[in-house]
Amino acid sequence: MLPVVLVMSLCHAFGQTKSADAKMNAFVSGLMGKMTLDEKIGQLNLVTGGAPTTGSVVNKGIEQKIKGGDIGGMFGIWGADKVKAVQDIAVKNSRLHIPLIFGLDVIHGHETVFPIPLGISATWDMALVQESAKIAAKEATAEGLNWVFSPMVDIARDPRWGRISEGSGEDAWYGSQVARAIVKGYQGTSMKNADAVMACVKHFALYGGAEAGREYNTVDMSPIKMYQDYLPPYKAAVDAGAGSFMSSFNTINGVPATGNQWLLTDLLRKQWGFKGFVVSDYTAVNELTNHGLGDLQTVSAIALKAGLDMDMVGEGFLTTIKKSLKQGTVTQQEIDQACRRVLEAKYKLGLFDNPYKSTDPAREKADVLTDDNRKFSRRIAEHSFVLLKNQTQTLPLKKSGTIALIGPLADNHSEMLGTWVVAGNPNKSVSVREGIKNVVGSDVNILYARGSNITDDSLLNERSYFFGMKQGKDGRPAQEMIDEAVETAKKADVVVAVVGESANMSGESSSRSDINIPETQRDLLKALAKTGKPLVIVLFNGRPLTLPWEDAHASAILDVWAPGTEAGNAVADVLFGNYNPAGKITATFPRSVGQIPIYYNHKNTGRPFDGKGPAKFKSDYIDISNDPLYPFGYGLSYTTFNYSGVKLDKTMLKGNEALKATVTITNTGKYAGEEVVQLYIGQPVASISRSVKELKDFRKIMLKPGESKEVTFDITTKDLKFYNTKLVYDWEPGEFIVEIGTNSSDTHTASVRWNK
Ligand code: BGC
Repeated sequence: MLPVVLVMSLCHAFGQTKSADAKMNAFVSGLMGKMTLDEKIGQLNLVTGGAPTTGSVVNKGIEQKIKGGDIGGMFGIWGADKVKAVQDIAVKNSRLHIPLIFGLDVIHGHETVFPIPLGISATWDMALVQESAKIAAKEATAEGLNWVFSPMVDIARDPRWGRISEGSGEDAWYGSQVARAIVKGYQGTSMKNADAVMACVKHFALYGGAEAGREYNTVDMSPIKMYQDYLPPYKAAVDAGAGSFMSSFNTINGVPATGNQWLLTDLLRKQWGFKGFVVSDYTAVNELTNHGLGDLQTVSAIALKAGLDMDMVGEGFLTTIKKSLKQGTVTQQEIDQACRRVLEAKYKLGLFDNPYKSTDPAREKADVLTDDNRKFSRRIAEHSFVLLKNQTQTLPLKKSGTIALIGPLADNHSEMLGTWVVAGNPNKSVSVREGIKNVVGSDVNILYARGSNITDDSLLNERSYFFGMKQGKDGRPAQEMIDEAVETAKKADVVVAVVGESANMSGESSSRSDINIPETQRDLLKALAKTGKPLVIVLFNGRPLTLPWEDAHASAILDVWAPGTEAGNAVADVLFGNYNPAGKITATFPRSVGQIPIYYNHKNTGRPFDGKGPAKFKSDYIDISNDPLYPFGYGLSYTTFNYSGVKLDKTMLKGNEALKATVTITNTGKYAGEEVVQLYIGQPVASISRSVKELKDFRKIMLKPGESKEVTFDITTKDLKFYNTKLVYDWEPGEFIVEIGTNSSDTHTASVRWNK
């Protein structure tokens, strides 16, 4: 009898008539009854097959370990045949034939790459967000995978932190919508489905609160801030049914997340009711030693006891837990509990029914990098772009005349996909130069000059190119390249400068203290601006950048993040008006790094400064305004929208009554376009000092030129709740300011009294 049949029969031998949970429990208990202590500890061991390696350790002797039952899961390999070969070892050659779980960092698409997550979040379109995860899951499962290390739901208010690119920005409510959509997209209606994967929500928790925006740094945060502003997206992911969580690298108020019992057990499981398993981040258990918690045996025991179930790469569990059990520093029950959770995940994925469910080479051929997936990638990229400036309607460009296409990112494939791309192939991406050719053919005369390298700063270059990647520098002196670009610009009607950050200037371990466009490229932009030609900046960036000079000197700025496989086609569609941009930023763009952290839902302070009257002894700076360059929720369109005032159906409410707030939006420009209508609520007086306002809802609407639409938001007491000093989530009576508008700063307001 084939081992696979054996496990299938094991799977079906238990309680067919009981509920699904009871069936699973019975199956897992039956299996665990046969397992030795070593085999149980083996299930807690996650190894890497090699790509990507984000720590100093890689695993050795994997085949032997699989045969010996010393491995529960593997990441860093993909491809139907490759995965099948490894699964074969587990299923055919290990004593109990327990299948492995196969994971990977599928972050913004798999082989077909979508915009970086910060870009995806700028769509404000949850159907698109969910679809992007669904397509990624389909491609990933066609290549052997059952588990993805995504979504990354860490709230970030510090754009120096490179991983702000991997999340959905600064707002907890909005981040929760995105978290839910992604989990649903990955896991579908059942994780047993052939095209569904298990989500792994990361990084639990508060990783985005790293001090000074420096990677892996300390997090110290008040409980109210945690609960109100940082934890909701993780909770939303639990509520959406996420199957697994990843613990983060940082400490939280002195206790590292990976060994934090309050976090991994009290909050996640007891308060939130999470039923899945928790894996550590890459060697995060071992790193507890650097955090000062003890040697490998000690920290492994701490992590297991805290509620960590699986150890990524470091093998602290594998090599020390048995000893700790003998010495009494961990219990059999703790080992069993972790093992059970890992086996349950495999059960929920249907791996005991079919360990090879994701290893069909025919599906791999049919489902990966398809035309449809590429079309979707182009669409979501267009929706992710944010028009930051468009003076005198420079954009859209005419499909005639001469354009000078300039910049180190204009004729480039390697930087189109952005950070955290494991399976995507840059050579399959469309460059901006190619995209423009595809969209306008020979109707437009395109002159090209590279103009500069991405950076000539040797440290920035060295640290943002790793894993053997190279910038591909042009060896000419910087001035010679600028001169050539200026000559090219002079011959054109308009200059399109494609500039910004390279893919790995953001992402893990890419914190920056200076978040300008790299200096070499700024020199180029300054020279181009001097030509007096209209200057359109197509901006690549993994984070909010400081752009006051660009805002003052460019005619138009289109923020395209890193758009993914269809980059060039999407950029060209938007530049030439085939699609009217409607994206809105989900993280504030500061004027200067000195303003960081900067976010829209700040507190008022005792001495607020509203920009009017004397500034002395007010909460401000003496050298810069408090205002950001571009506020949260900001983004322009080729058309213009007019907002009416806010109409409330009541001005006085009681208890559980509901309020309707309505605005009328009119398209007053020449183009059809979408607008993201945003609802914020503020409570000026409460038992604690509240944020000046908080996003509570939004609606994305399409309007033809001249068309008007009413948008009504239903507001209930759910929208008024907050965490008080006792961490009770409730609302308090009082005055509420309802704000509706096109971004967090530009709103119409109305006030209402709401009594208990
Ligand atoms: C990152 C995680 C990632 C893991 C596995 C770590 O360095 O922090 O986000 O999932 O590596 O590749």
